[in-house]
Amino acid sequence: MRRSRFILTLSVLVCSVSLYAGTPVYKDAGAPVEQRVEDLLQRMTLREKILQISQGFIGTNDNPNNVMDNFKNFPPETGSLIYYSNTSELGNMLQKEAVEGTRLGIPILFGYDAIHGFITEFPIPLAQAASFNPELAARANEICAGECYDAGVHWTFSPMVDIARDPRWGRVMEGYGEDPYLASRFAEAVVKAYQGDDPSQPGRILSCLKHYVGYGASEAGRDYTAVDISRQTLWDTYLPPFKAGVEAGALTLMGAFNTLNGIPASANHYTLTDVLKEKWNFEGFVVSDWGSVEQLVNQRAAADLKEAAEKSINAGMDMDMCDNVFIDNLEELVQEGKVSVATIDEAVRRVLRVKFRSGLFENPYRDVKDADSVVSEQKFALAQELAQESMVLLKNDGVLPLSADSDIALIGPIAEDKDIVLGGWRSHSDSKHSVSIREALEGEFPGGRILYSEGCDVAGSGTDNENPYGHIRDEAHDYDYSHAVRTARKSDVVVLCLGEGKFWTGENKTRASISLPDDQIALFDKLCKLGKKVVVVVEAGRPLDLTPIESRASAILYIWSPGHRGGPAVAGILSGRYNPSGRLPMTFPYGIGQVPIYYNHRASCRYSPWGDYIDGTPMAPLYDFGYGLSYSTFKYSEITLDGLTAKVSVTNTSDRDGKETVLWFVSDPSCSIARPVKELKYFEKKLIKAGETVEFVFNMDKVRDLGYVDPEGNEFFEGGAFIISAGDESLNFEMY
Ligand code: GLC
Repeated sequence: MRRSRFILTLSVLVCSVSLYAGTPVYKDAGAPVEQRVEDLLQRMTLREKILQISQGFIGTNDNPNNVMDNFKNFPPETGSLIYYSNTSELGNMLQKEAVEGTRLGIPILFGYDAIHGFITEFPIPLAQAASFNPELAARANEICAGECYDAGVHWTFSPMVDIARDPRWGRVMEGYGEDPYLASRFAEAVVKAYQGDDPSQPGRILSCLKHYVGYGASEAGRDYTAVDISRQTLWDTYLPPFKAGVEAGALTLMGAFNTLNGIPASANHYTLTDVLKEKWNFEGFVVSDWGSVEQLVNQRAAADLKEAAEKSINAGMDMDMCDNVFIDNLEELVQEGKVSVATIDEAVRRVLRVKFRSGLFENPYRDVKDADSVVSEQKFALAQELAQESMVLLKNDGVLPLSADSDIALIGPIAEDKDIVLGGWRSHSDSKHSVSIREALEGEFPGGRILYSEGCDVAGSGTDNENPYGHIRDEAHDYDYSHAVRTARKSDVVVLCLGEGKFWTGENKTRASISLPDDQIALFDKLCKLGKKVVVVVEAGRPLDLTPIESRASAILYIWSPGHRGGPAVAGILSGRYNPSGRLPMTFPYGIGQVPIYYNHRASCRYSPWGDYIDGTPMAPLYDFGYGLSYSTFKYSEITLDGLTAKVSVTNTSDRDGKETVLWFVSDPSCSIARPVKELKYFEKKLIKAGETVEFVFNMDKVRDLGYVDPEGNEFFEGGAFIISAGDESLNFEMY
């Protein structure tokens, strides 16, 4: 406190001098940020302060002749606008009004959802997680940041780091899966990719950890609904990726739509202030999610919008997204003494601090570039590399890689697709830049050996695959599959491309079923009857129920929503030019009845057959977290432990170079707070050449890797017996 009081006193002193001298400190790029913040803050009226902590949006209106219409609801003094244009021309016009047309000239912070690319589309974040390669994902997100920067977007509402254990929830596609450690590594990698060491540098943008907090635990995977989790689960599962992102330097967070144990995340003093701002010393600001302050009324947490504003800002929400609730109510709340000026000042202080740190005052405008001019084959090559590393080979009876002289029947509604593969939250990417699986395979296997048939469409006959109402028609149709069957008969092997339709995952895309559409399963059944090997390529933004196809498919390649270069990535893997290395970031269930099912669960009090499903459903999932095949085979040595240093050597026993990810799990068989049966604590992905052996080392930290948090977030270590495992190897040891 003494330091901050000293800074405040010094700031006021400097500001007073500057006021006298007439050169505002806040306009002095050389002055310390905190002094600039205090100088500007003390110059602002209450109205200006309230506008500064409000966010509006620029709709599709980018006609230069009526650009001022965009300010009908939001004056140029508004702190932030969600910016929908893909070039900076409109933004520069609006920014000029703010910087040169207002009393204090505070630049507007333009934000946007660039979740897995901006113009160049990379695989969805869940697919990026499957690569287990945060460094590669970081390179992709640096490109995303550069394209946002060029378009005048200063701030992306990403990374989304909600832990998700329920594939019925459409937003699993936006995050990094079910594991807190995996999500934490991607959180920090992506934050640093966006912000760099200094977010004011060219090509850098602000990151936004979202949705704070617990959104992924929405009951039954239904979006926008209630979350009831214990403080213990909050701390050991849902908070860690946010903590990692804050420690990586994230300057903003976004609140969540859900109530958390009865208190909306958008008005939750414990999470917004006690944890984030006091325990973690977070210096940035928190923006609400779209309309979530207003929605406190729907959630029965506020009697009216005025009370919603009061509760939200007093809990620690700093900026109000797009529902005008702060703008319409805070002045009256201050007059009534229900919200203090000090509270508003603290929110404004945080927003101004981030704007100064982002360099926005010195660099409010961007050069105008044509969106199409920013793409390049180099960027697409990286998109393909990340897609290749994210695809997961779930089954292979030896049919893959396909032999070079095969006649291949390429069948299914995803085979020619260039649009669905871009996934949800696709930003400004254009499908014209996509290369389909068909185009790529025809290049990979030239000479007319690809025989194509659509087989069926994605959602059923006559339904365009962008279901506007979110109702997925799974009922079977009396399709005439005869063309597909005839095509298959002429081939040596069938490659069947199935999956979800456009926008079947993402926000507001909850499914009660995670099945493939019945017509696709019916097509698979028809083709399986021909006695040929069927390779199934599955495109989806979530884990699907693969039990109808798993036993009869010769191979299954899960490609997620792979972005602009998913096609070439698939072709490279099917031909063997690229050795698959993806691993599952989420557990795949034996059907919806097992959901939720995840690997890091706590133990039961009894062992099987106690507690088994009486209907014969297995207790184990179809595919475990971390599962994924390679064309190579790897043999693990025994694990050795020297103090806290664990080692394992992995030999590539095949004749093909391949990348292997060693996942290090720790188990604590006895602890004051029962731990999950195992927890991922470290992973490393390396290329191992054919026949070679590579050593993997895990340097453990007692508290970080063998200890855990309690319901108040206090970390501690409790000595005793532990088990460390990697691959099929495990080692029991004791540590005190
Ligand atoms: C949406 C989403 C959030 C997004 C925001 C702005 O409702 O929940 O993730 O960043 O609004 O588009």
